[in-house]
Amino acid sequence: AIKGFIFDLDGVIADTSVYHAQAWHQLADELGVTWTAELADNLKGVSRMDSLELILKAGNLTDAYTPAEKEAYATKKNTNYLALLKNMDASAILPGIQAFLDDLVAHNYQLALASASKNSPLVLEQLGLAGYFSERVDPTKLKRGKPDPEIFTRGAELLNLPPAACIGVEDAKAGVEAINAAGELSIGIGDPTILGAAAINFNDTSELTLANIEQALN
Ligand code: G6P
Ligand code: MG
Repeated sequence: AIKGFIFDLDGVIADTSVYHAQAWHQLADELGVTWTAELADNLKGVSRMDSLELILKAGNLTDAYTPAEKEAYATKKNTNYLALLKNMDASAILPGIQAFLDDLVAHNYQLALASASKNSPLVLEQLGLAGYFSERVDPTKLKRGKPDPEIFTRGAELLNLPPAACIGVEDAKAGVEAINAAGELSIGIGDPTILGAAAINFNDTSELTLANIEQALN
């Protein structure tokens, strides 16, 4: 039986994936790299430095910059991102998420956060959701990012649950792959043509309810 839920943050709990995309788009323009919908989708769930590498690769610029220059570009993106976050509040919580979290708590499910973002503590604070997530995987301690299962494996360990007792919730292709590879049940939020590997797919967070999950599993 399912006992725990392991959540991605950006694009699942909060509307912040658009801010990440906006900040990367700005940097891509500066680097002369063409911004495409496909590139935007491939960046979802991917760590800051890995995202920069994907952008550079898209522009055939992988070897064009020194490690120090790459650090500076990654910092620049983060500065742009933090500026976009500045006025964010609970209104950025995606539809149905607050009610779903309350329902999970009421039904004694355990919750953990599996976000690749170093900004996730700040985001949770600003949303007023920090209290729901006492268990968080620290992305700075990971060896490999999504689609590697490490972050979701760690999430289950934090909850002291076997992976098969956990549901992972993701909006990113790389994230769904990570959940599946961890041996957990994946819920993909978004375009089913992109998240086809998910065990359960919902078009948006408003469909994320225990009743809909139970129905999808039967
Ligand atoms: C999440 C987002 C990505 C972001 C990554 C790192 O996975 O979906 O878009 O690149 O976190 O975020 P950070 O805030 O550490 O740069
Ligand atoms: Mg996400």
